[in-house]
Amino acid sequence: MTELNRTQGVASESAILAGVQLPDTKWHEEPLDELAGLVNTAGAVVVGRLHQKRIRPDRTTYLGKGKVEQLHRMVQATDADLVIFDNDLSPAQTRNLEESLGVKVLDRTEVILDIFAFRAQTHEARLAVELAQLEYSLPRLKRMWTHLSRMKMGVGMRGPGEQQLETDRRLVEKRIQELRHELGAIQRRKERQVAARSDRRTVSIVGYTNAGKSTLMNTLTGADVLVEDQLFATLDTRTRRWHLPGWGPVLLSDTVGFIRHLPHRLIASFKATLEEARQADLLLHVADASNPAVIDQIAAVYDVLEEIGIEEKNTVLVLNKIDRLNDGHSLDPVLHCYPNAIRISAVTGDGLQKMASAVSEALSRHFLNLDIETDVRNGRLLAYLADKGEILSRTYQDERVRIHCRIDRQYLGKIRDHEAVIRPHNGNGNILPPDANSRLDSPSNQSTG
Ligand code: GTP
Repeated sequence: MTELNRTQGVASESAILAGVQLPDTKWHEEPLDELAGLVNTAGAVVVGRLHQKRIRPDRTTYLGKGKVEQLHRMVQATDADLVIFDNDLSPAQTRNLEESLGVKVLDRTEVILDIFAFRAQTHEARLAVELAQLEYSLPRLKRMWTHLSRMKMGVGMRGPGEQQLETDRRLVEKRIQELRHELGAIQRRKERQVAARSDRRTVSIVGYTNAGKSTLMNTLTGADVLVEDQLFATLDTRTRRWHLPGWGPVLLSDTVGFIRHLPHRLIASFKATLEEARQADLLLHVADASNPAVIDQIAAVYDVLEEIGIEEKNTVLVLNKIDRLNDGHSLDPVLHCYPNAIRISAVTGDGLQKMASAVSEALSRHFLNLDIETDVRNGRLLAYLADKGEILSRTYQDERVRIHCRIDRQYLGKIRDHEAVIRPHNGNGNILPPDANSRLDSPSNQSTG
């Protein structure tokens, strides 16, 4: 049974890549290049590529008949162990292709699952991957059994009986329920933990896989986060303290890399990991400016953000790896689409100051920097500020307390209901004159501290 729990690993096998480009796929990169990157990361060796444009996929084999024959000849000529498709195949299509080609056929989702399985390090990430793998495997149990039979008994032996399949199906379903239950509990615990951390603003780094998120995190916080020229090096969120110039300390978290058409079941399984991003005050979206498909990668990240319901969040977009660009105009099309994007290099440090100012400005649009003076016995207001705001200092004089705090502007109305003197604070230890009070309601007039 344990072997059925896993998708098929591909390490050190030789693979031919195949893909169909449908009319709605626009991708400014050599077809199959990204799949080749994934396959290399999974540890297999690419020995051939075959690519076809079609109006719609063939129902039985995805590729057209002539291409399937061509693929068969390629498999024989290269003695490949497997064929990997860039498209998602139905269980029936996979079965038909395997019969025609005589080798194992995998799709992109299986390769991504394989990489995730290898990379997952924490208990939570392992559970998430196991759940995604089992959900993927469930409708394919019969085919997996056939693989096992071939491996153990040679090609052409009969697969398992229906009774055996039914037993396995029930075991897999039971395990899926257990995993959902456990991950649900982890997610709720995470939600509570992240929500309880109201003392500091949080910035979450998101971006396409290999964009340089971990490198940026390291540069900004001096943290020792795994950096590798490999896809999906980071599967678990790490949170570190970042002293944001012009603002003060914030919490910075690094998240799992995104990829176009990230399998839905994986996004669902990684909900707890993405909780940091969901609750963050701001997203720092890192894109790889040196990748020819950067525009598509940015769009793919927005698609995933939409899927987890946070596409509307306050976001600063940075175009990383500018040190790799030779041509000064190569980013023009990207800047045309995203005029506010900031060019940086996480390696050389270029543009990081500008990025920090943009982050601090974006936070300031949402948070008020206030000086609030009230009676020391005004327990309700003091508790409200401690709960909703970030208290930066408290000074006591006689029966009065003066609090410097940052608080989301949505709470201003509530604070005004209490007995207190409220003034904007310029963040440098100086309180602005009382006439500045009217400026509190204007989002454009916030000091950044
Ligand atoms: P995932 O974990 O896959 O999501 O990757 P990531 O976005 O965290 O990327 P990571 O920081 O691991 O960097 C990927 C590769 O890009 C590494 O080889 C880095 O050294 C390289 N890299 C990151 N930033 C820069 C940069 O500004 N300039 C150059 N030249 N290389 C960079």
